[in-house]
Amino acid sequence: MSTQQDNSFQAIIAHAKEYGFVFPSSEIYDGLSAVYDYGPYGSELKKNIRDYWWKSMTQLHENIVGIDAAIFMHPTTWKASGHVDNFNDPMIDNKDSNKRYRVDHLIEAHAAKLEENGQTKEAETLLQEMDALLAKDDFAGLKNLIESHKIVCAISGTCNWTDVRQFNLMFDTKLGSVTDEADTIYLRPETAQGIFVNFLNVQKTARMKIPFGIAQTGKAFRNEIVARQFIFRMREFEQMEMQFFVRPGTEGEWYKYWKQARLQWHLSLGIPAEKYRYHDHVKLAHYAKEACDIEFEFPFGFKEVEGIHSRSDFDLTQHQLYSKKKMQYFDADINVATGKPYGNYIPYVIETSIGLDRMFLLIMAHAYEEETITKEDGSTDSRVIMHIPEKIAPIKLAILPLTKKDGLPEIARDLMDECKNYFRCFYEEKDAIGKRYRRQDAIGTPFCVTIDHQTKEDNTVTIRYRDSMQQERILLSQVKDIVTNAIF
Ligand code: GAP
Repeated sequence: MSTQQDNSFQAIIAHAKEYGFVFPSSEIYDGLSAVYDYGPYGSELKKNIRDYWWKSMTQLHENIVGIDAAIFMHPTTWKASGHVDNFNDPMIDNKDSNKRYRVDHLIEAHAAKLEENGQTKEAETLLQEMDALLAKDDFAGLKNLIESHKIVCAISGTCNWTDVRQFNLMFDTKLGSVTDEADTIYLRPETAQGIFVNFLNVQKTARMKIPFGIAQTGKAFRNEIVARQFIFRMREFEQMEMQFFVRPGTEGEWYKYWKQARLQWHLSLGIPAEKYRYHDHVKLAHYAKEACDIEFEFPFGFKEVEGIHSRSDFDLTQHQLYSKKKMQYFDADINVATGKPYGNYIPYVIETSIGLDRMFLLIMAHAYEEETITKEDGSTDSRVIMHIPEKIAPIKLAILPLTKKDGLPEIARDLMDECKNYFRCFYEEKDAIGKRYRRQDAIGTPFCVTIDHQTKEDNTVTIRYRDSMQQERILLSQVKDIVTNAIF
Protein backbone atom coordinates (compact mmCIF):
# COMPACT_ATOMS: atom_id res chain seq x y z
CA MET A 1 0.00 0.00 0.00
CA SER A 2 1.43 3.43 -0.89
CA THR A 3 1.60 6.06 1.87
CA GLN A 4 -1.27 7.96 0.26
CA GLN A 5 -3.45 4.83 0.09
CA ASP A 6 -2.53 4.00 3.67
CA ASN A 7 -3.47 7.53 4.81
CA SER A 8 -6.85 7.38 3.13
CA PHE A 9 -7.53 3.91 4.60
CA GLN A 10 -6.51 5.11 8.07
CA ALA A 11 -8.82 8.12 7.64
CA ILE A 12 -11.75 5.78 6.85
CA ILE A 13 -11.02 3.66 9.93
CA ALA A 14 -10.81 6.76 12.14
CA HIS A 15 -14.03 8.14 10.65
CA ALA A 16 -15.82 4.82 11.17
CA LYS A 17 -15.00 5.01 14.87
CA GLU A 18 -15.61 8.72 15.40
CA TYR A 19 -19.04 8.65 13.78
CA GLY A 20 -20.37 5.44 15.35
CA PHE A 21 -19.98 3.02 12.44
CA VAL A 22 -17.42 0.51 13.75
CA PHE A 23 -15.66 0.13 17.11
CA PRO A 24 -12.90 -2.30 18.09
CA SER A 25 -14.48 -5.12 20.11
CA SER A 26 -14.24 -4.76 23.91
CA GLU A 27 -12.17 -1.64 23.41
CA ILE A 28 -11.99 -0.78 27.11
CA TYR A 29 -9.83 -3.92 27.46
CA ASP A 30 -7.68 -2.83 24.50
CA GLY A 31 -9.77 -4.70 21.94
CA LEU A 32 -9.65 -8.21 20.55
CA SER A 33 -7.65 -8.75 17.41
CA ALA A 34 -9.73 -8.90 14.20
CA VAL A 35 -13.05 -8.66 16.05
CA TYR A 36 -15.22 -5.54 15.71
CA ASP A 37 -18.53 -4.13 16.92
CA TYR A 38 -20.91 -2.05 14.85
CA GLY A 39 -22.18 1.21 16.36
CA PRO A 40 -25.47 3.07 15.88
CA TYR A 41 -24.92 4.08 12.25
CA GLY A 42 -22.83 1.02 11.41
CA SER A 43 -25.47 -1.45 12.57
CA GLU A 44 -28.09 0.47 10.60
CA LEU A 45 -25.94 0.46 7.44
CA LYS A 46 -25.09 -3.23 7.88
CA LYS A 47 -28.76 -4.12 8.28
CA ASN A 48 -29.64 -2.11 5.17
CA ILE A 49 -26.99 -3.91 3.08
CA ARG A 50 -28.26 -7.26 4.38
CA ASP A 51 -31.88 -6.33 3.62
CA TYR A 52 -30.96 -5.11 0.15
CA TRP A 53 -29.26 -8.42 -0.60
CA TRP A 54 -32.09 -10.44 0.96
CA LYS A 55 -34.73 -8.60 -1.03
CA SER A 56 -32.84 -8.98 -4.31
CA MET A 57 -32.38 -12.71 -3.70
CA THR A 58 -35.73 -13.75 -2.26
CA GLN A 59 -38.40 -11.14 -2.97
CA LEU A 60 -37.20 -10.54 -6.53
CA HIS A 61 -36.65 -14.23 -7.37
CA GLU A 62 -39.74 -16.39 -7.07
CA ASN A 63 -37.57 -19.50 -7.10
CA ILE A 64 -35.33 -18.53 -4.16
CA VAL A 65 -36.38 -18.99 -0.54
CA GLY A 66 -34.53 -18.21 2.66
CA ILE A 67 -33.57 -20.12 5.79
CA ASP A 68 -31.95 -19.26 9.10
CA ALA A 69 -29.90 -22.26 10.22
CA ALA A 70 -28.09 -22.58 13.55
CA ILE A 71 -24.41 -21.74 13.91
CA PHE A 72 -23.75 -25.04 15.70
CA MET A 73 -24.15 -28.09 13.48
CA HIS A 74 -23.58 -31.80 13.95
CA PRO A 75 -19.79 -32.28 13.84
CA THR A 76 -20.06 -34.83 11.03
CA THR A 77 -21.22 -31.97 8.80
CA TRP A 78 -17.68 -30.63 8.76
CA LYS A 79 -16.13 -34.04 8.15
CA ALA A 80 -18.46 -34.50 5.15
CA SER A 81 -17.86 -31.00 3.79
CA GLY A 82 -14.10 -31.53 3.92
CA HIS A 83 -13.48 -28.70 6.39
CA VAL A 84 -12.00 -30.97 9.10
CA ASP A 85 -9.40 -32.34 6.71
CA ASN A 86 -8.93 -29.58 4.16
CA PHE A 87 -9.82 -26.20 5.64
CA ASN A 88 -6.19 -25.45 6.27
CA ASP A 89 -3.80 -22.72 5.41
CA PRO A 90 -0.04 -23.24 5.12
CA MET A 91 1.61 -21.29 7.93
CA ILE A 92 5.13 -20.43 8.89
CA ASP A 93 6.45 -19.09 12.21
CA ASN A 94 9.34 -16.74 12.72
CA LYS A 95 11.55 -18.33 15.40
CA ASP A 96 12.74 -15.00 16.78
CA SER A 97 9.43 -13.16 17.14
CA ASN A 98 7.20 -16.27 17.40
CA LYS A 99 4.89 -14.49 14.99
CA ARG A 100 2.88 -16.76 12.70
CA TYR A 101 2.16 -15.87 9.08
CA ARG A 102 0.02 -17.32 6.35
CA VAL A 103 2.60 -18.25 3.75
CA ASP A 104 0.69 -16.75 0.80
CA HIS A 105 0.14 -13.47 2.65
CA LEU A 106 3.81 -13.22 3.61
CA ILE A 107 4.92 -13.74 0.02
CA GLU A 108 2.20 -11.47 -1.40
CA ALA A 109 3.26 -8.65 0.94
CA HIS A 110 6.84 -9.04 -0.29
CA ALA A 111 5.64 -9.00 -3.91
CA ALA A 112 3.67 -5.80 -3.21
CA LYS A 113 6.86 -4.17 -1.88
CA LEU A 114 8.79 -5.23 -4.99
CA GLU A 115 6.05 -3.72 -7.12
CA GLU A 116 6.15 -0.46 -5.16
CA ASN A 117 9.89 -0.32 -5.88
CA GLY A 118 9.21 -0.67 -9.58
CA GLN A 119 10.30 -4.35 -9.73
CA THR A 120 7.05 -5.45 -11.37
CA LYS A 121 8.54 -8.37 -13.31
CA GLU A 122 10.21 -9.82 -10.19
CA ALA A 123 6.93 -9.47 -8.26
CA GLU A 124 5.01 -11.31 -10.98
CA THR A 125 7.55 -14.12 -11.14
CA LEU A 126 7.51 -14.50 -7.37
CA LEU A 127 3.70 -14.80 -7.31
CA GLN A 128 3.74 -17.29 -10.19
CA GLU A 129 6.29 -19.45 -8.40
CA MET A 130 4.21 -19.26 -5.21
CA ASP A 131 1.02 -20.29 -7.08
CA ALA A 132 2.78 -23.28 -8.62
CA LEU A 133 4.12 -24.46 -5.24
CA LEU A 134 0.76 -23.94 -3.51
CA ALA A 135 -0.99 -25.94 -6.23
CA LYS A 136 1.37 -28.87 -5.52
CA ASP A 137 1.20 -28.45 -1.71
CA ASP A 138 4.99 -28.24 -1.90
CA PHE A 139 5.73 -26.89 1.59
CA ALA A 140 9.50 -27.36 1.43
CA GLY A 141 9.49 -25.45 -1.85
CA LEU A 142 7.52 -22.60 -0.27
CA LYS A 143 9.99 -22.34 2.59
CA ASN A 144 12.84 -22.28 0.06
CA LEU A 145 11.10 -19.51 -1.86
CA ILE A 146 10.76 -17.41 1.31
CA GLU A 147 14.40 -17.95 2.23
CA SER A 148 15.81 -17.43 -1.26
CA HIS A 149 14.00 -14.06 -1.49
CA LYS A 150 15.22 -13.19 2.02
CA ILE A 151 11.66 -12.42 3.12
CA VAL A 152 11.86 -11.25 6.72
CA CYS A 153 9.43 -11.07 9.64
CA ALA A 154 8.00 -7.55 10.07
CA ILE A 155 8.61 -7.72 13.83
CA SER A 156 12.02 -9.38 14.28
CA GLY A 157 13.40 -8.38 10.89
CA THR A 158 14.99 -11.84 10.59
CA CYS A 159 14.69 -14.66 8.07
CA ASN A 160 14.78 -17.38 10.76
CA TRP A 161 11.73 -19.48 9.80
CA THR A 162 10.22 -22.79 10.93
CA ASP A 163 9.03 -25.36 8.40
CA VAL A 164 5.72 -24.63 6.69
CA ARG A 165 2.79 -26.42 8.39
CA GLN A 166 -0.94 -26.73 7.83
CA PHE A 167 -3.23 -24.98 10.32
CA ASN A 168 -7.00 -25.62 10.51
CA LEU A 169 -9.06 -22.43 10.55
CA MET A 170 -12.12 -23.75 12.41
CA PHE A 171 -12.83 -22.76 16.01
CA ASP A 172 -14.00 -25.64 18.16
CA THR A 173 -15.85 -25.73 21.44
CA LYS A 174 -17.56 -28.28 23.70
CA LEU A 175 -21.23 -29.10 23.72
CA GLY A 176 -22.62 -30.09 27.14
CA SER A 177 -20.68 -30.63 30.33
CA VAL A 178 -18.73 -33.78 29.47
CA THR A 179 -15.45 -32.85 27.86
CA ASP A 180 -14.60 -35.94 25.85
CA GLU A 181 -13.87 -35.79 22.18
CA ALA A 182 -17.38 -36.75 21.07
CA ASP A 183 -18.63 -33.41 22.36
CA THR A 184 -16.35 -31.28 20.21
CA ILE A 185 -18.33 -29.11 17.84
CA TYR A 186 -17.32 -26.29 15.55
CA LEU A 187 -18.39 -22.72 15.04
CA ARG A 188 -19.43 -22.81 11.38
CA PRO A 189 -16.75 -21.43 9.04
CA GLU A 190 -19.34 -20.81 6.31
CA THR A 191 -23.14 -20.61 6.28
CA ALA A 192 -23.42 -22.78 3.15
CA GLN A 193 -23.48 -26.12 4.95
CA GLY A 194 -26.66 -25.12 6.84
CA ILE A 195 -28.26 -24.83 3.41
CA PHE A 196 -26.96 -28.18 2.10
CA VAL A 197 -28.12 -30.21 5.09
CA ASN A 198 -31.58 -28.62 4.81
CA PHE A 199 -31.83 -29.11 1.06
CA LEU A 200 -34.63 -31.70 1.18
CA ASN A 201 -36.50 -30.06 4.09
CA VAL A 202 -36.69 -26.83 2.10
CA GLN A 203 -37.42 -28.45 -1.26
CA LYS A 204 -40.32 -30.46 0.19
CA THR A 205 -41.88 -27.88 2.51
CA ALA A 206 -41.65 -24.94 0.10
CA ARG A 207 -42.51 -27.27 -2.85
CA MET A 208 -39.56 -26.02 -4.88
CA LYS A 209 -38.88 -27.20 -8.41
CA ILE A 210 -35.41 -27.23 -9.90
CA PRO A 211 -33.84 -24.80 -10.67
CA PHE A 212 -34.28 -23.14 -7.28
CA GLY A 213 -32.17 -21.43 -4.66
CA ILE A 214 -31.83 -21.24 -0.88
CA ALA A 215 -30.50 -18.03 0.62
CA GLN A 216 -29.12 -17.39 4.07
CA THR A 217 -27.31 -14.67 5.98
CA GLY A 218 -25.48 -15.25 9.22
CA LYS A 219 -22.31 -15.34 11.25
CA ALA A 220 -19.31 -17.42 10.31
CA PHE A 221 -16.06 -17.88 12.22
CA ARG A 222 -12.52 -18.49 11.07
CA ASN A 223 -9.36 -18.50 13.10
CA GLU A 224 -7.59 -16.31 10.58
CA ILE A 225 -3.92 -16.15 11.36
CA VAL A 226 -3.19 -12.98 9.53
CA ALA A 227 -6.27 -10.98 10.33
CA ARG A 228 -5.69 -7.43 9.23
CA GLN A 229 -6.99 -4.55 7.17
CA PHE A 230 -9.72 -3.59 9.60
CA ILE A 231 -12.98 -5.43 8.84
CA PHE A 232 -11.65 -6.90 5.59
CA ARG A 233 -10.46 -10.10 7.27
CA MET A 234 -12.11 -10.87 10.58
CA ARG A 235 -12.34 -13.85 12.89
CA GLU A 236 -16.08 -13.40 13.40
CA PHE A 237 -17.91 -12.13 10.34
CA GLU A 238 -21.16 -12.41 8.48
CA GLN A 239 -21.85 -14.05 5.15
CA MET A 240 -24.73 -13.74 2.69
CA GLU A 241 -24.83 -16.94 0.70
CA MET A 242 -27.13 -18.52 -1.84
CA GLN A 243 -26.96 -22.05 -3.18
CA PHE A 244 -28.73 -22.49 -6.50
CA PHE A 245 -29.68 -26.12 -7.27
CA VAL A 246 -29.74 -27.05 -10.96
CA ARG A 247 -30.12 -30.04 -13.24
CA PRO A 248 -26.71 -31.61 -14.02
CA GLY A 249 -25.54 -30.42 -17.42
CA THR A 250 -27.05 -26.94 -16.99
CA GLU A 251 -24.49 -25.70 -14.44
CA GLY A 252 -22.40 -23.89 -17.10
CA GLU A 253 -25.22 -21.58 -18.17
CA TRP A 254 -26.32 -20.95 -14.57
CA TYR A 255 -22.76 -20.14 -13.55
CA LYS A 256 -22.63 -17.52 -16.31
CA TYR A 257 -26.04 -16.18 -15.23
CA TRP A 258 -25.06 -15.72 -11.57
CA LYS A 259 -21.64 -14.34 -12.38
CA GLN A 260 -23.30 -11.57 -14.36
CA ALA A 261 -26.31 -11.12 -12.03
CA ARG A 262 -24.15 -10.65 -8.98
CA LEU A 263 -22.02 -7.96 -10.61
CA GLN A 264 -25.24 -6.21 -11.65
CA TRP A 265 -26.35 -6.23 -8.01
CA HIS A 266 -23.20 -4.34 -7.04
CA LEU A 267 -23.65 -1.86 -9.89
CA SER A 268 -27.31 -1.31 -8.95
CA LEU A 269 -26.02 0.53 -5.89
CA GLY A 270 -24.52 3.14 -8.19
CA ILE A 271 -20.89 2.16 -7.63
CA PRO A 272 -18.81 2.79 -10.79
CA ALA A 273 -18.14 -0.31 -12.91
CA GLU A 274 -14.42 0.50 -13.18
CA LYS A 275 -14.04 -0.15 -9.44
CA TYR A 276 -14.91 -3.81 -10.08
CA ARG A 277 -13.32 -6.67 -11.93
CA TYR A 278 -13.67 -10.45 -12.15
CA HIS A 279 -10.87 -12.73 -11.12
CA ASP A 280 -11.34 -16.19 -12.63
CA HIS A 281 -9.74 -18.93 -10.53
CA VAL A 282 -7.03 -20.91 -12.20
CA LYS A 283 -6.47 -23.21 -9.25
CA LEU A 284 -9.83 -24.84 -8.51
CA ALA A 285 -10.91 -26.68 -5.39
CA HIS A 286 -11.16 -30.42 -6.11
CA TYR A 287 -15.00 -30.28 -6.32
CA ALA A 288 -15.26 -27.02 -8.28
CA LYS A 289 -15.90 -26.89 -12.01
CA GLU A 290 -15.56 -23.11 -12.32
CA ALA A 291 -15.02 -20.31 -9.83
CA CYS A 292 -14.43 -16.59 -9.85
CA ASP A 293 -14.23 -13.68 -7.46
CA ILE A 294 -15.80 -10.29 -7.87
CA GLU A 295 -13.03 -7.93 -6.83
CA PHE A 296 -13.33 -4.31 -5.75
CA GLU A 297 -10.64 -1.67 -5.74
CA PHE A 298 -10.19 -1.07 -2.00
CA PRO A 299 -7.70 1.58 -0.84
CA PHE A 300 -5.19 -1.31 -0.58
CA GLY A 301 -5.82 -2.59 -4.13
CA PHE A 302 -8.24 -4.91 -5.93
CA LYS A 303 -9.45 -7.60 -3.50
CA GLU A 304 -12.18 -10.22 -3.38
CA VAL A 305 -15.56 -9.17 -2.07
CA GLU A 306 -17.68 -12.04 -3.41
CA GLY A 307 -17.17 -15.54 -4.78
CA ILE A 308 -19.23 -17.38 -7.39
CA HIS A 309 -18.56 -21.09 -7.45
CA SER A 310 -19.83 -23.94 -9.57
CA ARG A 311 -19.64 -26.64 -6.86
CA SER A 312 -20.91 -29.67 -8.83
CA ASP A 313 -22.82 -32.21 -6.68
CA PHE A 314 -19.92 -32.45 -4.25
CA ASP A 315 -21.58 -31.23 -1.05
CA LEU A 316 -24.88 -33.07 -1.39
CA THR A 317 -23.07 -36.27 -2.40
CA GLN A 318 -20.79 -36.01 0.62
CA HIS A 319 -23.74 -35.47 2.98
CA GLN A 320 -25.53 -38.44 1.42
CA LEU A 321 -22.44 -40.55 2.00
CA TYR A 322 -21.88 -39.51 5.62
CA SER A 323 -25.54 -39.30 6.74
CA LYS A 324 -26.70 -42.33 4.71
CA LYS A 325 -29.80 -40.28 3.82
CA LYS A 326 -30.77 -39.86 0.17
CA MET A 327 -30.11 -36.34 -1.11
CA GLN A 328 -31.86 -36.88 -4.41
CA TYR A 329 -34.42 -34.84 -6.22
CA PHE A 330 -37.07 -36.34 -8.51
CA ASP A 331 -37.32 -34.34 -11.74
CA ALA A 332 -40.64 -35.06 -13.49
CA ASP A 333 -39.83 -32.86 -16.51
CA ILE A 334 -39.49 -34.76 -19.76
CA ASN A 335 -36.03 -35.04 -21.23
CA VAL A 336 -36.59 -34.41 -24.96
CA ALA A 337 -33.60 -36.56 -25.87
CA THR A 338 -35.05 -39.69 -24.24
CA GLY A 339 -38.75 -38.85 -24.11
CA LYS A 340 -38.73 -39.86 -20.43
CA PRO A 341 -38.63 -37.85 -17.16
CA TYR A 342 -35.18 -36.83 -15.98
CA GLY A 343 -35.95 -38.87 -12.84
CA ASN A 344 -33.81 -38.99 -9.68
CA TYR A 345 -30.51 -37.19 -9.41
CA ILE A 346 -28.37 -35.21 -7.00
CA PRO A 347 -28.57 -31.59 -8.18
CA TYR A 348 -25.54 -29.54 -9.10
CA VAL A 349 -24.97 -26.26 -7.26
CA ILE A 350 -23.96 -22.73 -8.17
CA GLU A 351 -23.02 -20.75 -5.08
CA THR A 352 -22.88 -17.00 -4.62
CA SER A 353 -21.10 -16.00 -1.42
CA ILE A 354 -20.46 -12.46 -0.24
CA GLY A 355 -19.08 -11.19 3.05
CA LEU A 356 -21.41 -8.65 4.64
CA ASP A 357 -18.61 -6.94 6.57
CA ARG A 358 -16.49 -6.79 3.43
CA MET A 359 -19.40 -5.26 1.53
CA PHE A 360 -19.72 -2.76 4.39
CA LEU A 361 -16.05 -1.84 4.01
CA LEU A 362 -16.56 -1.52 0.26
CA ILE A 363 -19.39 0.95 0.85
CA MET A 364 -17.31 2.94 3.35
CA ALA A 365 -14.34 3.06 0.96
CA HIS A 366 -16.54 4.10 -1.94
CA ALA A 367 -18.46 6.67 0.11
CA TYR A 368 -15.69 8.50 1.97
CA GLU A 369 -14.58 11.85 0.60
CA GLU A 370 -12.74 14.80 2.09
CA GLU A 371 -14.15 17.60 -0.01
CA THR A 372 -12.86 21.14 -0.41
CA ILE A 373 -15.66 23.60 -1.06
CA THR A 374 -15.03 26.91 -2.82
CA LYS A 375 -17.52 29.52 -1.64
CA GLU A 376 -18.97 32.37 -3.69
CA ASP A 377 -16.49 34.87 -2.18
CA GLY A 378 -13.58 32.64 -3.25
CA SER A 379 -12.74 31.40 0.25
CA THR A 380 -12.60 27.67 0.89
CA ASP A 381 -14.13 25.33 3.41
CA SER A 382 -13.98 21.57 3.79
CA ARG A 383 -16.27 18.76 4.76
CA VAL A 384 -16.12 15.00 5.14
CA ILE A 385 -18.93 13.46 3.20
CA MET A 386 -20.09 9.87 2.97
CA HIS A 387 -21.65 9.23 -0.45
CA ILE A 388 -23.55 6.20 0.83
CA PRO A 389 -26.13 5.05 -1.75
CA GLU A 390 -29.53 6.47 -0.70
CA LYS A 391 -31.15 3.02 -0.58
CA ILE A 392 -28.85 1.83 2.19
CA ALA A 393 -27.94 5.06 4.03
CA PRO A 394 -28.28 4.64 7.83
CA ILE A 395 -30.46 7.75 8.10
CA LYS A 396 -32.53 8.78 5.11
CA LEU A 397 -33.87 12.13 6.30
CA ALA A 398 -32.72 14.64 8.92
CA ILE A 399 -35.46 16.96 10.15
CA LEU A 400 -34.03 20.20 11.46
CA PRO A 401 -36.13 23.03 12.92
CA LEU A 402 -34.17 26.28 12.53
CA THR A 403 -34.87 27.34 16.10
CA LYS A 404 -36.11 25.65 19.24
CA LYS A 405 -39.09 27.97 19.54
CA ASP A 406 -41.93 29.75 17.69
CA GLY A 407 -43.76 26.49 16.97
CA LEU A 408 -41.03 25.19 14.59
CA PRO A 409 -40.21 22.05 16.64
CA GLU A 410 -43.92 21.13 16.63
CA ILE A 411 -44.07 21.25 12.81
CA ALA A 412 -40.84 19.24 12.63
CA ARG A 413 -42.22 16.63 15.06
CA ASP A 414 -45.35 16.28 12.92
CA LEU A 415 -43.16 15.61 9.85
CA MET A 416 -41.16 13.11 11.86
CA ASP A 417 -44.39 11.30 12.82
CA GLU A 418 -45.51 11.27 9.19
CA CYS A 419 -42.22 9.79 7.88
CA LYS A 420 -40.81 7.55 10.59
CA ASN A 421 -42.98 4.57 9.72
CA TYR A 422 -41.57 4.56 6.19
CA PHE A 423 -37.85 5.21 6.62
CA ARG A 424 -35.27 6.11 9.26
CA CYS A 425 -35.40 9.79 10.24
CA PHE A 426 -33.26 11.85 12.57
CA TYR A 427 -34.45 14.87 14.54
CA GLU A 428 -32.13 17.61 15.77
CA GLU A 429 -32.66 21.16 16.97
CA LYS A 430 -29.28 21.90 18.58
CA ASP A 431 -26.43 23.99 17.04
CA ALA A 432 -26.17 26.20 13.98
CA ILE A 433 -27.74 24.77 10.85
CA GLY A 434 -24.37 24.56 9.00
CA LYS A 435 -22.92 22.44 11.78
CA ARG A 436 -25.95 20.16 11.72
CA TYR A 437 -25.63 19.70 7.94
CA ARG A 438 -21.95 18.74 8.32
CA ARG A 439 -22.79 16.09 10.90
CA GLN A 440 -25.36 14.57 8.55
CA ASP A 441 -22.87 14.66 5.63
CA ALA A 442 -20.42 12.74 7.79
CA ILE A 443 -22.87 9.88 8.38
CA GLY A 444 -24.16 9.91 4.80
CA THR A 445 -27.72 11.25 5.27
CA PRO A 446 -28.93 12.00 1.72
CA PHE A 447 -31.67 14.53 2.64
CA CYS A 448 -31.94 17.28 5.24
CA VAL A 449 -35.10 19.31 5.66
CA THR A 450 -35.10 22.63 7.50
CA ILE A 451 -38.25 24.02 9.02
CA ASP A 452 -38.13 27.82 9.35
CA HIS A 453 -40.47 30.74 9.94
CA GLN A 454 -41.62 30.76 6.31
CA THR A 455 -42.89 27.20 6.84
CA LYS A 456 -45.52 28.62 9.19
CA GLU A 457 -46.70 31.00 6.51
CA ASP A 458 -46.74 28.89 3.34
CA ASN A 459 -46.12 25.27 4.40
CA THR A 460 -42.82 25.09 2.50
CA VAL A 461 -39.48 23.79 3.75
CA THR A 462 -35.88 23.84 2.52
CA ILE A 463 -34.63 20.48 1.33
CA ARG A 464 -30.86 20.11 1.07
CA TYR A 465 -29.23 17.40 -1.03
CA ARG A 466 -26.13 15.83 0.50
CA ASP A 467 -23.91 15.36 -2.56
CA SER A 468 -24.58 18.62 -4.41
CA MET A 469 -25.38 20.67 -1.28
CA GLN A 470 -28.08 22.28 -3.38
CA GLN A 471 -31.11 23.58 -1.56
CA GLU A 472 -34.61 24.12 -2.81
CA ARG A 473 -37.93 25.18 -1.45
CA ILE A 474 -40.60 22.47 -1.59
CA LEU A 475 -43.96 21.86 -0.01
CA LEU A 476 -43.89 20.17 3.37
CA SER A 477 -46.37 17.66 2.00
CA GLN A 478 -43.86 16.57 -0.73
CA VAL A 479 -41.07 15.54 1.64
CA LYS A 480 -42.16 11.96 2.30
CA ASP A 481 -42.64 11.16 -1.40
CA ILE A 482 -39.32 12.69 -2.48
CA VAL A 483 -37.40 10.59 0.02
CA THR A 484 -39.45 7.45 -0.65
CA ASN A 485 -38.89 7.74 -4.42
CA ALA A 486 -35.14 8.05 -3.94
CA ILE A 487 -34.75 5.03 -1.68
CA PHE A 488 -36.79 2.41 -3.55
N1 GAP B 1 -19.19 -20.88 1.06
C1 GAP B 1 -18.11 -20.39 0.29
C2 GAP B 1 -17.21 -19.52 1.05
O1 GAP B 1 -17.31 -19.39 2.26
P1 GAP B 1 -15.15 -17.94 0.79
O2 GAP B 1 -14.49 -17.41 -0.45
O3 GAP B 1 -14.27 -18.62 1.78
O4 GAP B 1 -16.29 -18.91 0.26
C3 GAP B 1 -16.93 -16.05 0.83
O5 GAP B 1 -15.93 -16.76 1.51
C4 GAP B 1 -16.88 -14.58 1.18
O6 GAP B 1 -16.90 -14.42 2.60
C5 GAP B 1 -15.61 -13.88 0.73
O7 GAP B 1 -15.72 -13.44 -0.61
C6 GAP B 1 -15.52 -12.71 1.69
O8 GAP B 1 -16.32 -11.63 1.24
C7 GAP B 1 -16.13 -13.28 2.96
N2 GAP B 1 -15.07 -13.68 3.92
C8 GAP B 1 -14.37 -14.83 3.92
N3 GAP B 1 -13.50 -14.84 4.96
C9 GAP B 1 -13.67 -13.67 5.62
C10 GAP B 1 -13.07 -13.07 6.78
N4 GAP B 1 -12.14 -13.71 7.48
N5 GAP B 1 -13.49 -11.84 7.17
C11 GAP B 1 -14.46 -11.18 6.48
N6 GAP B 1 -15.05 -11.70 5.39
C12 GAP B 1 -14.67 -12.92 4.95
